[in-house]
Amino acid sequence: MGLVVVVLQFCVGLLALPAHLLDFLGLWKPLSQRIFPYIMRKLAVGYNEKMHSYKKELFRSLPDFAGPSGQLKVLEIGCGTGNNFQFYPQGTKVTCTDLNPNFQQFLKKSQAENDHLHYEPNLVAPAENLSAVEDASVDVVVSTLVLCSAENVERVLKEVRRILRRGGAFYFMEHVCADHSTWTYFFQQIYHPTWKFLLDGCNLCREIWKDLEKASFSEMKLKHIWAPFPWKPFRPHILGYAVK
Ligand SMILES: C[S@@+](CC[C@H](N)C(=O)[O-])C[C@H]1O[C@@H](n2cnc3c(N)ncnc32)[C@H](O)[C@@H]1O
Repeated sequence: MGLVVVVLQFCVGLLALPAHLLDFLGLWKPLSQRIFPYIMRKLAVGYNEKMHSYKKELFRSLPDFAGPSGQLKVLEIGCGTGNNFQFYPQGTKVTCTDLNPNFQQFLKKSQAENDHLHYEPNLVAPAENLSAVEDASVDVVVSTLVLCSAENVERVLKEVRRILRRGGAFYFMEHVCADHSTWTYFFQQIYHPTWKFLLDGCNLCREIWKDLEKASFSEMKLKHIWAPFPWKPFRPHILGYAVK
């Protein structure tokens, strides 16, 4: 099986030959960082349509985590073009962070369209190092489709725990690795290197629930679902929240 996977990975990789050539010339990384926000703006519309009911259900409990003042303080990591604002309750104070500055123009548009929230200045920073954010200063951290591409998931979760106040929650919705005994996993492995190379480091085969289980949260609600997308390697998802 191993050799078959490697040969098929190579065949899929041939489709990305022009991008590999650009990479060889040192041009791919800066170009993909510029193009990716445009791709995400398109993909996010379809994603939100298909996942609308899941997101609505997931974020329904957000008000339960408002601090003593009654106002909810949310920090979203890897905010991208800003696709979750419609699910946050009226008056929520939101801080958006992302490591790619090229998302800002789309993010600002989405913020202007969702004027029921109060926005803190956007932060361009990796979720592995949010040193501009004080310890125990937010009620909720949100991550949707970010942990698949973070360079170090363990460090991200450590930062999330640091900035959450005690009793605060980490909300997540992420696509994940399929069960290893399935054809979906077989195809995830085949597409994985090319997908990761073309789509800004996105890893199809991460078992993110294992990182969450190891991250010392006091309580976790986590569900595995088979999300409603036609392309099977993208279907396995986890969603839920973990309490500090
Ligand atoms: C697939 S997009 C998802 C965007 C948005 N969360 C959504 O649900 O539409 C992944 C986002 O995570 C950001 N990202 C990836 N790794 C990151 C990291 N280590 N720290 C902060 N942002 C990161 C990317 O720049 C991109 O905006």
